[in-house]
Formats: sequence, structure tokens, C-alpha cells
Amino acid sequence: MIEKISKLRDTAIGRIKEAVSSTEVEELRVKLLGKKGELTEMLKDLKNMDIEERKQFGQEANALKNELTEIIEGKFKELSANDVKKSLSSGSNFDISLPGTNFKLGSLHPVTIVQKEIERIFTGMGFNIVDGPEAEEEFFNFEALNIPKHHPARDMQDTYWLENGSLLRTHTSPCQVRAMQKYGAPLKVIAPGRCFRNESTDASHENTFFQLEGMMIDKNVSIANLIYVMKLLLSEVFQRDVKIRLRPGFFPFVEPGFELDLNCMICGGKGCPTCKHSGWIELLPCGMVHPNVLRYGGIDPEEYTGFAFGLGLTRLAMMKYGISDIRVLNSGDLRAMEQFSVR
Ligand code: DAH
Repeated sequence: MIEKISKLRDTAIGRIKEAVSSTEVEELRVKLLGKKGELTEMLKDLKNMDIEERKQFGQEANALKNELTEIIEGKFKELSANDVKKSLSSGSNFDISLPGTNFKLGSLHPVTIVQKEIERIFTGMGFNIVDGPEAEEEFFNFEALNIPKHHPARDMQDTYWLENGSLLRTHTSPCQVRAMQKYGAPLKVIAPGRCFRNESTDASHENTFFQLEGMMIDKNVSIANLIYVMKLLLSEVFQRDVKIRLRPGFFPFVEPGFELDLNCMICGGKGCPTCKHSGWIELLPCGMVHPNVLRYGGIDPEEYTGFAFGLGLTRLAMMKYGISDIRVLNSGDLRAMEQFSVR
């Protein structure tokens, strides 16, 4: 029996060495080591042997199996390296200038791109980035922002209520009071995040969208500081001079309050569905923090003043990239998102 093995070893190694193609080596592998291969067949005789013989034969057969496997693998490698060399030198139809197989890279969502950009601008001015829960307490979303129950301002912010009395936050403004309570004054923070409203959707309204809240509190902060920071923000984001207008706006948590509008970049101010045919996009409501709100945050309004703003991140991304319908952003349509992938 042992002789049979050493014979098989000699012929097998010879045959593998002589093989000239990978197909040939594969055929040999099956013939020798496959389920019905020569070595496998030999092992079937094991059951007829006595214990001593079986032990010795088993060991030899196993050693041969390992040896042949190794030689076969080596031969495969050698042949495939040869194949490449051959086709390169034969000048056949191997064209190294052909483009490779393309694979798709993922991309950041346009809102994320704009958010990161604004975070960069504000952290450069010494602001910290803070966070708040999307399922928010009624107190932070309304009361602490000077919007008591039955205040008509709640009508404009209808949302989804949870059974435990919380709600899906209608804006990022609740982060104002959370940040004041946590860090006190002086304070410079921004809070980007997802917001929700019970809206009928159209080109500029969605039930889910992103805002970025900002707040600066210190001694002697004034409207001049507010306007300076807002202008800096917009010119950095658009990398050019933008046309804006400031008009009075009412928000219970600021006094005075403003609406900062941006000349519509989709239509250039002529009027289109995105700007509701007005030529202007409401982008940056802002104002001086109401004394009641400072008090809710545990800050003395006699000592400190501050400004706050609530930037429509989703709208800003639409303006920056010329996206005319907000619904595209949550649609999951790859044709829209692929345009932002890194090539
Ligand atoms: N939270 C307001 C909204 O979603 C926007 C807003 C207005 C935020 C004025 C502010 C602000 O910080 O000062 O309608």
C-alpha cells in the first residue's frame, strides 16, 4: 500500500509540473484529490486494513494530500502570472488604456454638505455645536420659548404628538433653552437638526426638514452683532455677495424679531413656485432673545443680552444647489443624490 502511495506521488507531481494551463491544473486537481480522485479512492481501502497498517497508510496519504495541494496552488499562481505576462507581451487585445470597472461611491446628502460647511464657519468664530432630542418635551418646544398653551403661535407649528405627551419638535429652538440651562452665560452655540411639522406638502413644504439654530449671549450683545454674523454666514456659504432684506417679524421668543429674506436664487428674484412668486425666500428668522426666554434658561436678562436665529438648512441647500422642489430631498431618488458623489 505504501508503495502505491509513493508511486502516485511521483506521477502526480510530474503531471502537475508539466501542466501548461490553469484548466489543465484544475482537471488534475479533480482527478487526484476530488471526491472520486485517485487518492480519495485509495483511502477507501482503509477499512480493509488492520490497525497498524491503517495508521501508517492514513498518515502517508494525508501527507501526500497536503503536499499535492500545496504544489497545485503554487502552479496556479505561476500560471496566472504567466498569463498576464504573456498577454502583455503578445500585444494582443489587452489594452491597458481601457477604463477600469466603475464602482459607485456613496455621497453626502446636500443638506449634510451645507450643514458641515456652516459648522465649519461657526466653529471658526468660537461657537460650539450642541444637540437636542427630536422627540422633545412640550416645555422646551413651546413654554420655555414664551409660547404658552393657547398662544396663537402654536397654530403655525402643528406637529405629531406622542402618547407620553412629548412631541416631534417643530423647530431647533428648544435647543436654546437646553443649552442655556446646561452651559449658562456667556454662550455661543449652534444646533443643527431634524424638525417635523404636520404640513400639506408642496414645492417648499415637507413634514420633515432641517434647521440650524444659533445663539450668542454675552454682556452688551446687540442687533449690530446679529447683522454682522448673519451677513458673514451667508457670504461664506454662497461665496459671493448675496442680496438680502431684513424686515420685522414676530416670534414670541425674540424681541425685536426679524425676517431675513434671501433674493430667490432659483428664479433670480422674478418669482417662481419655490419663492411663492414673491422673488424672496424666507431663510433666516432671527432676533434679540426675549427676557422671558433668558429667564427660563436661568440667565439674568438685566446682566446679559443675546441674539438667536433659526436657519432653514433644507431651504439653504435648495438655494445653493438650485433644487426647486423640497420633496426631492427625502425621496431617496438616487438620480438626485448621485450628483453630489465624489468622483
Ligand atoms: N423657530 C422658528 C421657526 O421655526 C425660527 C426662529 C425665529 C428661530 C427666530 C430663532 C429666531 O432663533 O430668533 O419658525
